[in-house]
Amino acid sequence: MLVNGKHFKTVWSEGKHVKMIHQNLLPFDFKIHTCHNYVETAYAIRDMIVRGAGAIGCTAALAMAQAFIEHFPDWNQIDNARRFIESMRPTAQNLFYATKFVAENAQNHIDALELAQLICSQDSNASKAIGEYGAELILNNYSVATHCNAGWLAFTDYGTALAPIYEASRQGKKLKVFVDETRPRSQGARLTAWELYNEGIEHYIIADNATAFFMQKGNIDIMIVGADRIAANGDVANKIGTLEKAILARHFGIPFYVAAPKATFDIHCATGKDIPIEFRNQNEVLYATGPNEKNISETILLANPGSPALNPAFDVSPAELISGIITEVGIINADYQSINKLFKNV
Ligand code: MRU
Repeated sequence: MLVNGKHFKTVWSEGKHVKMIHQNLLPFDFKIHTCHNYVETAYAIRDMIVRGAGAIGCTAALAMAQAFIEHFPDWNQIDNARRFIESMRPTAQNLFYATKFVAENAQNHIDALELAQLICSQDSNASKAIGEYGAELILNNYSVATHCNAGWLAFTDYGTALAPIYEASRQGKKLKVFVDETRPRSQGARLTAWELYNEGIEHYIIADNATAFFMQKGNIDIMIVGADRIAANGDVANKIGTLEKAILARHFGIPFYVAAPKATFDIHCATGKDIPIEFRNQNEVLYATGPNEKNISETILLANPGSPALNPAFDVSPAELISGIITEVGIINADYQSINKLFKNV
């Protein structure tokens, strides 16, 4: 996608180095972060310099390639590196898909880099196809709601939940996007809003607790969200707060779609109960960071001093609340039979 007229991917490799857009600095500053070895790349995932299921997967694949470059042919060290990379974030299935793909198929460091680059191009192609299938759901003059950031920053390009919005807009449809701020890290207010602003798409940031208000008023025609992991029965883990949006959408009779590539499905998780949910540091809830009026970054306390916070990063929306899953091969039902068919290719 374009940033100030120049095409960028979210993450890419240059020789032995992995480069990425530094997402913790957005939308206030645009910088490229360089990781010189697999440990630095893994820490970029842990510290959310890169985040979003697809981008995490691509970064993990590139980190595996760095581990091969640094350690091949010491398979013990390569195996340790795989476990280290996989320990950075527990929920996004794309991470585990990517490390497995590189670790189990690469015969040497040259293969490893090619396989990692293949993961990145598959991610980008899948996102583009999701945009094309999903755009059919967005009619002219529609208002679309979304949660968190499942745009191009969360993948290598295009995104998932935002890809149909970009495609519909390119097709000339007039549309409006309601962007949940997505506390505590505000990926909606910071990243989704930044993406839509850059694309010139009409959008409004709304407080997380304002969705019911707009749904009740009839202001939202469809909601599309991303996914971090999808179980075999169609239950979907996504950013915390997605579950309450799914319940609201059902209450108000609004179609609620999930957009995700095949790499996000985990058919070894029978239901959403088997999906590991990451709990993050309480300071993400208690503090906020941003530039002050002199453009100097400041962190401020938002809560009662001394009160503790709980910070689950994801929740699971049950399959029965999901109208359909937009994948790179078409829109499927969120149920066991459809997902089974997707993986059997029949
Ligand atoms: O914690 P994050 O920012 O890595 O969260 C992941 C997400 O971006 C969202 O849950 C998103 O909606 C799905 S991943 C594209």
